[in-house]
Formats: sequence, structure tokens, C-alpha cells
Amino acid sequence: MRENSRLAPVWSKLSDLDVISGKGALVYTSSGEEYLDLTSGIAVTSTGHCHPKVVQAIATQAQRFIHAQVNVYTHDLLEPLAEKLYEVTPSSIESFFYSNSGAEATEGAIKLARQYTKRPNVIVFQGSFHGRTSQAMAMTTSRTSYRAGHMPLPAGVFVSLTPGYLEGEAVLDGDPRVQKALDYLDYLLLAQSAPSETAAFIVEPVLGEGGYLPLPKTFLEGVAKRAKEHGILFVVDEVQTGFGRTGKMFAVEYYDVEPDILVMAKGLASGFPMSAIGARKDIMDRWPVGSHGGTYGGNPIGCAAALATIDILTEKGFLENVRDRALQLRSGLEEIAAEDGAIGNVRGLGLMVGVTLVNSLKKPDAERVSKIIAHARDESKVLIMNAGTWGNVIRWMPPLVVEEAQIKRGLDAFRLALKNT
Ligand SMILES: Cc1ncc(COP(=O)(O)O)c(C=O)c1O
Repeated sequence: MRENSRLAPVWSKLSDLDVISGKGALVYTSSGEEYLDLTSGIAVTSTGHCHPKVVQAIATQAQRFIHAQVNVYTHDLLEPLAEKLYEVTPSSIESFFYSNSGAEATEGAIKLARQYTKRPNVIVFQGSFHGRTSQAMAMTTSRTSYRAGHMPLPAGVFVSLTPGYLEGEAVLDGDPRVQKALDYLDYLLLAQSAPSETAAFIVEPVLGEGGYLPLPKTFLEGVAKRAKEHGILFVVDEVQTGFGRTGKMFAVEYYDVEPDILVMAKGLASGFPMSAIGARKDIMDRWPVGSHGGTYGGNPIGCAAALATIDILTEKGFLENVRDRALQLRSGLEEIAAEDGAIGNVRGLGLMVGVTLVNSLKKPDAERVSKIIAHARDESKVLIMNAGTWGNVIRWMPPLVVEEAQIKRGLDAFRLALKNT
């Protein structure tokens, strides 16, 4: 933060990297330096910075209409975007509501679940991150820093186990921790939040801020099964995992589950603030008219950016490139892990990969993570980020258009940083 800045210090991590433009996976600073951005602005610019088709769609729409408040007048992109979302989301998702950020959408999803079920409570899973507004904070359990000083938060949120979360490792199907976590969920429903009082389970298929930890298939399917049995809505938060990030359009496609409500943001509009809640039609139809809304939801430029983004993501070969680059990244990181005992494990799904750093006692090493990130940035001009409750995860979330040579450059920077920190 600059001295005498008029910006709120709550942006404690305000970067001093002063960027003036971006193209694909690259960003350029005011002093003319080029950086490789393997963060995608926290998993947002999936089509890369300023993809020409997205830029064109935004520019064209900006000349037509910038703000069309949906209660005053509708505009001609609202329906086409809903149709497009219907095509790309799981078949259970049939009707759509638009808002502006991930937190707004997760809050909206829970409002909808409460209205539909007429039940008050929500069950979340350890390590969850659903945003920073009050209800979203109440559902966020990945770090106390998100909640401290904001208590009391809305009540009625119960926390269930995430297999492997406390150990910081991805658990495979068949591991006894899967059944243990499902048993704990049953216990919660028996002892703390009765099914008749539980509106929703909200779950991230791959923990995002909680440490890039994919949930085992049998676990997510067990959660969905319990939801169905008890008339509890199965809400999947794909704010970070959605829109090709994991190598499929949505991470739930890796699982045999049918979300009742799907929450989308980040990758949806290539960086334009835009989010969406999708739900089964019978659920959406029971959301009382006027009980939710917002001034900016369904903004025409956001819709144009989202339509262009989805067109790019559905181009032939696009997701294949994601999966190829994911394989390259994953195997490169695993190779490095085999050479270096400081790496606890490598895990993830598609281009959402986490690497844990541990000290000689095999305990989380957040300090080393900070040093590695700083080294990669300062010496190699490569941007990577941390994640996780213990701060010891380096997360890799490059734009989905990342090139082979750029992944290699990222891996080389990581190797060098490991050697020199
Ligand atoms: C899974 C998930 N849900 C919700 C959010 C909140 O999104 P936003 O920061 O746009 O409010 C995030 C942000 O990182 C997220 O990763």
C-alpha cells in the first residue's frame, strides 16, 4: 500500500504490481515489465486477459446499452444467456437468476433454498469458502480471519467433516475417512440440525480457498444421496470450479450427482462482475416474486461477456487443451515433488492444482510458501498464489488458454524458487 493512500487498508494484501494491460496469460506493468499470470485474477480470467471475442462483445454492447434494470425494462441478452446456461449446465439445472458476485449468488442460493423448503438451517463442510457477506461468511469455515470481528453471524449454519481436510491431503474413494465424514453428516442430522429443519447442504466439489482439495466421488455422491433422502436441497458452489476450470464445464460432471441448485461466478464472464444461480425449475418457480433481486443483476455488458465466454469455452478442442495443460502441470509438479521433500503432496482437478509445502517435521510451512511466491514473482516474473487454512498450499489456476511453454515457464520458476528459498 502506498503511503498516504486513500484506499482502505482492509485491502491488506493490495499488490504493488501496477498493471496497465493484459493479454492471454500475460500482464504488463506501467514500467513495461511482463509477468506470467498463473492466478487468472483468482480463477476468473479463464479465457485469458482481454480475449478479443470478449472485448468485442463488451465493446459492442457498451455502444448499445450499458444498464438495463430488469424491473424497468428487459434486454435482449437475458433470455439467450439463460438458454446458453441451460445448454452447458447439468440437466437438472433449468432456470437462472443473475447477480454480480460469488457471495451474492451463494447468499441468494440459500435464500432460495429456505423459501422452497421452508426450513431454516444449512450444513456446510470444513474448509468451505462461500464469500464475505454476512450469510456467506457464516458459511465460510476456511479461516477465522474471514469471520473474526464480524460475529455474531447469521445462525443456523452447521459444519460437517470434509474427508482429508485436517490432514491436508486428497482422499481417495475407499479410504475409511469417506465413510467417517458421511457418518458425521448423519450424526449432525440426528443430533444438531434435524432434516425437517435443514434447507440445504452447500458444497464445493473442489475446496477452493480451503486448499484446492478435490472431494472423493463417493463422498459427494453420499452427500447428494442424503440430501435426496431427506428433502434437503443439494447446493453446489461452482463459483471457482465452474466454466471449464477442472477440464469439464462443471466439476459435478466428474460425479454421479444432480445438483438442485448450482452457483456460478468467476469464470462465467471472463472478469466482468457477473454471477448466476441455476436451479431446478420447480424450485425456482417457488421463489416468491420480489423476495430477491438487485439493481445490477443481469447487466447487459455482463450478459454479453458471459455469452462470448461460453462460446469460447465450447469451441471444439478448448476443454481438451485444458485437460492437456492440466496433465502437463500435474506431472511437472509431481516430478518436482519427487525430487523435493518439502512438498507434502500435489492434488487437484484440471487446471486447479494445489501443492502443499511442509517443514522437516512434516508440518504446514506457510512461511516457505510466501517466500516461494515472492521469489517466483521477483526473479522469474511468474505470478502464483497461496491458499488453504494453514496457508501452506500453492495454488495453480492459470487461464484455460495457457500455452505449453507458459506452463513450462511456471514449473521452471517454481523449481528455481524451491532451490533458492
Ligand atoms: C467457491 C467460492 N464461492 C464463493 C466465492 C465468493 O465469490 P466473490 O468473491 O465473487 O464474492 C468464492 C471466491 O473465491 C469461491 O471461491
